[in-house]
Amino acid sequence: MPWNPDVYNQFKAERYAPFYDLLGLVTVKNDLSVIDLGCGTGELTRKLADALPGSQVTGIDTSAEMLEKAKTFATDHLHFSQQSIENAVAGGSTWDIVFSNAAVQWVEDHETLLPRIISLVKKGGQLAIQVPSNHHHVSHVAIRELAERAPYREALNGWIRTSPVLSIEQYARILFENGGHNINVFEKVYPHVLEDAKAVVGWTSGTALVPYMDKLPAALKDSFLNEYTATLTKALPGSPVFYPFNRTLMVATF
Ligand SMILES: C[S@@+](CC[C@H](N)C(=O)[O-])C[C@H]1O[C@@H](n2cnc3c(N)ncnc32)[C@H](O)[C@@H]1O
Repeated sequence: MPWNPDVYNQFKAERYAPFYDLLGLVTVKNDLSVIDLGCGTGELTRKLADALPGSQVTGIDTSAEMLEKAKTFATDHLHFSQQSIENAVAGGSTWDIVFSNAAVQWVEDHETLLPRIISLVKKGGQLAIQVPSNHHHVSHVAIRELAERAPYREALNGWIRTSPVLSIEQYARILFENGGHNINVFEKVYPHVLEDAKAVVGWTSGTALVPYMDKLPAALKDSFLNEYTATLTKALPGSPVFYPFNRTLMVATF
């Protein structure tokens, strides 16, 4: 997928808040081994590494564009590699902290994936994951509804992206069934205030729209974006617009 670090970085301050909430749930110790699944530009992985003195931190991501930025945050204690989450969970290495901020939602089937991610945690180690759970908001629903209409449906061969994100009860159960202790799973609303509906389009351009823009033929990209913008302008009129953003945070020790 063509991740664009500059588009993603537009709403840095808003995207930082859940990261700091997640970091606040991590039990800080020295000299840990840590993996950050879907590290993106690496800026937040660096903050994670800086918060864990003496630890060895590895950030993995599939996007060459994101990892190009990440290079600038590397240190003796922080390395990045191009690897998928699917590959990491199949790899057999284990870590004191398995961390992931806003990335696991890009991998399907969390009933199967979560136990595999948990298997990366060393005995006595901790899992800390944050995923957006905003898929019921109009900004996401409108993308799927548009993709289901002509001519986009034909161009996409009927493909739409449904979020694999589960309920907090389901995540809590999975953590428990796989040996979790000190389980803490909750959903939080991040109350963003953006300039207008176009700014919301700017937000989803860095995330939810990415796979659609990737799959649509060049001739339909602009019209898809225009129709989506028109729908959101109707649904979220005026300025500023309130953009409540639900996210699910989960931690447990194993
Ligand atoms: C929304 S960004 C979050 C980046 C970073 N964790 C942060 O908080 O700023 C999602 C990242 O997940 C990466 N990603 C998506 N699917 C992935 C996969 N299957 N394996 C590894 N990384 C993936 C994308 O390349 C992107 O950099």
